[in-house]
Amino acid sequence: MALLIKGGEIVTASSRYVADILCEGETISRIDTDISPPAGAEVIDAAGKFVFPGFIDPHTHIYLPFMGTFSKDTYETGTKAALIGGTTTIFDMCCPGRSEEPMDGFQTWRAQSEGRAACDYSFHMGVTKFDESSAAQLREIVKAGIQSFKIFLAYKGALGIDDAELFQALSLAKELGVVTTAHCENETLVSELQRALLAAGRTDTAAHHDSRPPRVEAEGVHHLLTFAEMTGAAVYIVHLSCREALEEALAARLRGVNVSIETVVQYLTLDKTYAELPDFEGAKYVMSPPLRDKKHQPILWNALAQGLINTVGTDHAPFDFKTQKTMGRDDFTKIPNGIPAIEDRVNLLYTYGVLTGKIDLSTFVKIASTNAAKIFNLYPRKGTIQPGADADLVIFDPEYEGILSAKTHHMNIDYNAFEGWKIHGRPSLVTLRGEVAVRDGQFVGTPGRGQFLQRKTGTPKA
Ligand code: URP
Ligand code: ZN
Ligand code: ZN
Repeated sequence: MALLIKGGEIVTASSRYVADILCEGETISRIDTDISPPAGAEVIDAAGKFVFPGFIDPHTHIYLPFMGTFSKDTYETGTKAALIGGTTTIFDMCCPGRSEEPMDGFQTWRAQSEGRAACDYSFHMGVTKFDESSAAQLREIVKAGIQSFKIFLAYKGALGIDDAELFQALSLAKELGVVTTAHCENETLVSELQRALLAAGRTDTAAHHDSRPPRVEAEGVHHLLTFAEMTGAAVYIVHLSCREALEEALAARLRGVNVSIETVVQYLTLDKTYAELPDFEGAKYVMSPPLRDKKHQPILWNALAQGLINTVGTDHAPFDFKTQKTMGRDDFTKIPNGIPAIEDRVNLLYTYGVLTGKIDLSTFVKIASTNAAKIFNLYPRKGTIQPGADADLVIFDPEYEGILSAKTHHMNIDYNAFEGWKIHGRPSLVTLRGEVAVRDGQFVGTPGRGQFLQRKTGTPKA
């Protein structure tokens, strides 16, 4: 059925105007003033509302075997929550363990998501070891539609790779025209600091930050970017959290390194005092890199406003407080790392970024949608509103007022890191490829309709 969205204020990365949008089949067919509805079309009144391109979360962990457990969402639950929050495309991290073959990992993630995801998706392919056989498999995976790798400079012995593997993985990425996304923390410093803290009797949740201070992240960024410079590979720093790491990234960019930068909404809104909460409550806020001192937040917001940081993701990694975070009650190094946010990212960015004047509406669209589509080769199919693009649209009601809570959220997790926080504005209707998927905060789409998005190689900049 055709959809006609009437009278909304269309906001893209580069334009803002009132018009009607006609969606036929899965794509946008026409944008004009006063379009008459074709026979049988559903007409959606968007007067007084914004119409944004479907938002893109460039960094999620819907399925993640990690630290002796599994992240709690499934592709059914996580992608419905994403859609309710206005996110129509996600990039999940495909992270096979070091003992697994890359192709087996890729097939596992495909099997987990196929027929289950409600929103569209792709993967960043984890390179958690590198040898001749894995290189051959990675070539096949790229042919199957993957344009980005994921590497970890942290998590020694689990997902992390060594320097020879890093060099070889980046060389292959350069040859294939693949962007390498990277978790940057110096894993030796982390494990030595963890050992020293535990030896000094520090088992508490606040010790997590002290085992991974800003300089540890900055060293990881510097390290990655030295290797990127030597190989000429395009890289993308995931979840950058602090000034020190940003300075290293910008210095490399000035040297000519092709580096894009992501931060996540948690670093923009939460700070390290949350991870210091008593009675183990701080465990809810343990992620890596850790939540930082509040002084880093204006720097991150300014870098977004100035186009220095390109994207805002979530690193959505949900672990239940009652049954999973407790694995680290007596030892902070055993707390499963991750803070859920897939459902709340867009609303938090709007309320705490746009409405406070930290970013304008076009920056909001760029950092939460368009730039990720460009960097990861989905643009202009995704990330904008124009004829021919997928009809992924977010009709956003700026008058809505609500409160975030685990009692009402749709993520499959027993706490909300933003419990009780106010939001002003939310998606009132979300379409995915021409089908209404969300109305008034409820999923009304077709479960399992999400598509695996095949991406061509090439490393465009945002
Ligand atoms: O704490 C985090 N970030 N958990 C998820 C895994 C990762 O490092 O991205
Ligand atoms: Zn990470
Ligand atoms: Zn992650």
